[in-house]
Amino acid sequence: MALRNILKQGDEALAKRCRPVTDFNARLHELLDDMAETMLSANGVGLAAPQVGVLRRAVVVLETNVPEGEPDRVIEMVNPQIIDADGEQDGPEGCLSVPGSYGMVKRPSRVRVKAQDRNGGWFEAEGTGLTARAFCHEIDHLDGHLFTELCDHILSDEELAAYYGSEGDE
Ligand code: NI
Repeated sequence: MALRNILKQGDEALAKRCRPVTDFNARLHELLDDMAETMLSANGVGLAAPQVGVLRRAVVVLETNVPEGEPDRVIEMVNPQIIDADGEQDGPEGCLSVPGSYGMVKRPSRVRVKAQDRNGGWFEAEGTGLTARAFCHEIDHLDGHLFTELCDHILSDEELAAYYGSEGDE
């Protein structure tokens, strides 16, 4: 496993529509392993293949809604599609490709995704809260979209602090 370089906003790879994954081979497994390691190392909750310069439809998302005492779990999703969504949440969203910037983005509060695993098997995953937000955000990356297209401005430090209350003071 290896850390990969995360491309930043302005890199043309982040604006491209990615092609489906067709080969579920060792190269894909290495990509997914590296993406998980890179995401965790950067304290992110999701990472999409185009963010490491690979224009294929693969993402990793950190599932943090786990039972108490259990470790967070990395969900690998290849060729993911949103098949159901409901509710609405509005909150600050950021991206490892837009470091230090957050904007208010509305997302569904519950999202159901159909995807393939690293061996090509289809599965469905459901996310709520932050995980639902991450599913939407990462799948947007596969179509060349960043959260900055969905918010009306980047939040100032004061606005972020106001949203988080006392947590935002440090
Ligand atoms: Ni992102």
